[in-house]
Amino acid sequence: MSKILLKGGTVVSSKGMKKADVLISGEKIVAVGKHIHTDASTVNVSGKLLFPGFIDAHTHFDLEVSDTVTADDFSSGTKSAIAGGVTTVVDFATQNKGEKLSDALNNWHVKAFANSSCDYAFHMAISDWREDVRAELEGMFEQGVTSFKVYMIYDAMELNDREIYELMVELKKYGGIVGCHCENSGIIGKLREESVARGDVSPENHPKTRPDYAEAEAVRRFLTIAQAAQAPVIIVHLSTTEGYLEVMRARQRGVKVFAETCPQYLLLDDSVYDKPFDEASKYICSPPLRKAEDQKVLWTALKSNNLNTIATDHCSFTVEQKRAGKDDFTRIPNGMPGVETRAILMYTYGVRKKRISIQQMCAYLSENPAKLYGMYPKKGAIKVGSDADIVIFEPRGNSTITAASCHSACGYNPFEGVRTEGSINRVYLRGNLVYSNGEIVLENHGKYVSRKKPVLQ
Ligand code: URP
Ligand code: ZN
Ligand code: ZN
Repeated sequence: MSKILLKGGTVVSSKGMKKADVLISGEKIVAVGKHIHTDASTVNVSGKLLFPGFIDAHTHFDLEVSDTVTADDFSSGTKSAIAGGVTTVVDFATQNKGEKLSDALNNWHVKAFANSSCDYAFHMAISDWREDVRAELEGMFEQGVTSFKVYMIYDAMELNDREIYELMVELKKYGGIVGCHCENSGIIGKLREESVARGDVSPENHPKTRPDYAEAEAVRRFLTIAQAAQAPVIIVHLSTTEGYLEVMRARQRGVKVFAETCPQYLLLDDSVYDKPFDEASKYICSPPLRKAEDQKVLWTALKSNNLNTIATDHCSFTVEQKRAGKDDFTRIPNGMPGVETRAILMYTYGVRKKRISIQQMCAYLSENPAKLYGMYPKKGAIKVGSDADIVIFEPRGNSTITAASCHSACGYNPFEGVRTEGSINRVYLRGNLVYSNGEIVLENHGKYVSRKKPVLQ
């Protein structure tokens, strides 16, 4: 079995940083400490930070949506992931209406198998709640799917309050958790219709028709359902102050709620929608980008550990695909790429700007999602027995984000031209060097991660 000693680096965890060597044997970490005596081949990582491989628990690869399919499939999406230090993605297997969960899961296995350059797991997005779907849930857990998602919006996927309640109650039997896309579909649907009827069809109408209170109302309603069901839940891609306040209020009344946000809600604002169509449409995602004030509140929430994970909601489309909405913004496919730039952005604009600590960066990008999604300590830790998923991070130097140097098939980057500090120097996936000095050196080595129950801390 091949052995590698990573020597002289600083190991980062949510608890702190310590100088330690890390010995990898085959796919696993077998020793962490000082003065490890071994015949392993040695890699000098002095001056570098060692993070447990990052986890992006919110991606949509190869998703058919808005009469098209995302630009990134598992092949390009997971290459983009490893170049960004992401060694595991949790993608949303998505049930179409009328479909069985087992068929949806099988579809996602087919999409990902042999095409993935990082490890992958699946949440199950439930779009059609039926008795036979209820009966399938236990089987999902047996197959390593322990987290679920519902949408309060999007005609093709929306569940009503009663259905969400029933799902929550059922999942409690197995120790699962449900995440939610919280936006009020009635209000937003009508505002969008009215906007188009008035002839207000350009991208600047996207945020106007998805106001912050429509997120907050849905967050409150979802958390009220969770309160009734006494079930643990996650709010995905939380984007507003008002939504965050609802999370805090629900916690005060005893609801077990976790919350995720994304770099776009921390670093970009809705002024981008005033740009010409091809620029503005790149930023059309739901929820939409918000105001500088919302960013400030989300950063403060991260600083005080009141959010739990930072994911990306990577859901990419080319400029050409976005042009489907040239004459009607409601037809623009929603989403943007993000999996490749999350870590470097959070290091630059979080850690270096002192908005979060490096330990918190490790928690939000690696340790917390590993725990919340039932993968810890196999993933999310540099510990004896953990998978040898390790990011060697060079804190010195700086760079600029360009689409040309990224691996997404969508052809653009929402952070084009943004200056970054530090760099991802090397990435190990289960002991295999997959990325080194700007190059992907090993492709399609990803494996399915069958997950255990969430750890609800
Ligand atoms: O615009 C977005 N976020 N598209 C991806 C699907 C979702 O809502 O998470
Ligand atoms: Zn969503
Ligand atoms: Zn999403």
